[in-house]
Amino acid sequence: MTHNFSPPLDLAFVRQQFPSLAGDWIFFDNAGGSQILKPVVDRITAFLYESNVQLGASYALSQRATERVAAGAQAMATLVNAADPAEVVLGPSTSALLRMLAQCFRPTLQPGDEIVVTNADHEANISPWVELERAGMVVKFWRVNPTTLELDLADLEALLTSKTRLVAVTHTSNVLGSIQPVRAIADLVHSHGALLCVDGVAFAPHRRVDVQALDVDFYTFSLYKVYGPHMALLYGKKELLLTLPGYNHYFIDDRAIPYKFQPGDSSYELSYSLTAITDYFTALGQHHGQPGEADPIDQAFALIQQHEAALNERLLSFLHSRPRVRVIGRDAADPTQRVSTISFVVEGVSSDQIPPRLDSHNIAIRYGHFYALRLIEALGLLPQQGVVRVSMVHYNTLEECDRLIEQLENLL
Ligand SMILES: Cc1ncc(COP(=O)(O)O)c(C=O)c1O
Repeated sequence: MTHNFSPPLDLAFVRQQFPSLAGDWIFFDNAGGSQILKPVVDRITAFLYESNVQLGASYALSQRATERVAAGAQAMATLVNAADPAEVVLGPSTSALLRMLAQCFRPTLQPGDEIVVTNADHEANISPWVELERAGMVVKFWRVNPTTLELDLADLEALLTSKTRLVAVTHTSNVLGSIQPVRAIADLVHSHGALLCVDGVAFAPHRRVDVQALDVDFYTFSLYKVYGPHMALLYGKKELLLTLPGYNHYFIDDRAIPYKFQPGDSSYELSYSLTAITDYFTALGQHHGQPGEADPIDQAFALIQQHEAALNERLLSFLHSRPRVRVIGRDAADPTQRVSTISFVVEGVSSDQIPPRLDSHNIAIRYGHFYALRLIEALGLLPQQGVVRVSMVHYNTLEECDRLIEQLENLL
């Protein structure tokens, strides 16, 4: 995707969709959770007031509710370019969906089968796989190079064998912000006959996910970080979802996807509200583009990428100018290489000392390991309480970034 889109992102248009941005907070903890779009909230309310009945009955209101919930799944299929909405499983969180996936996998594995996980992932995409060791699986770690902070493809290749069944990897680390070459990883993993499960939580708020172009087998992310409600999605290739054992009652048909992976079903009102996320990206692209041009959602993400490049440049050039600061992630601001989640440590200063100093300025950032504990340990950063993380998204402005820099100037 290119980022030489000519018009700049219309931030007034963007920000008016998020009521919370009208207040006096600077939200720089977006990798923890983004602000929510007003139409998402409106649709939650609309569902509950207008169509709060059980799905699948013959009466008209039930059919209306069924259509609304189906529209949510269709919107998510459109967002990630899934071929079929049946490939989109909705659930309460990425952590819960990955635990479910690993449990469904379990009966298909033989003792001695191998699974590869990384030490750069959020624990959500590590523990559920590591716990399969108890069932006789061999778990191998693809480790980040502590000097370059990169996951090297050659290291993965050395771990793959004819017994590898699955590789679990992050698209973007929620600490490092680096974008992994998922398509190249998928090709390598598939050439060894294994499957690929990608955690896209730290990627999806920033760039368009295209599950077909990436050729991933499973891909998951949290919608409360993509301007939506507390919910998550798990994409799975149709033939895999059809053959995997389900996670639902014994009488639920094995071909009933995604329902066989949605015990108790997904929240109806939240599912319906997801339609407002794709509507937002579509409107954002259309607002800036010419009718008949590229897909408006792609245009929206091209604008987002371009705006993030400016945010990255502003903050990274400041951080690089401070001799005691070390950026924990790629140095380059290039938005094809990284998202605008920027972590750093300060020589001689424990990371827990910095965010509270910004609290009185209503600048919301945080420190810690962010559940990527293995990464923080591998980098030797636990004694200094992890990293300080500034996670910006497209609704953040350069002025907000400058206000942060002004405060950091006194501290770093
Ligand atoms: C990269 C990454 N993966 C997974 C998760 C877990 O997401 P959830 O809170 O939906 O379980 C997070 C949450 O911070 C994350 O940043």
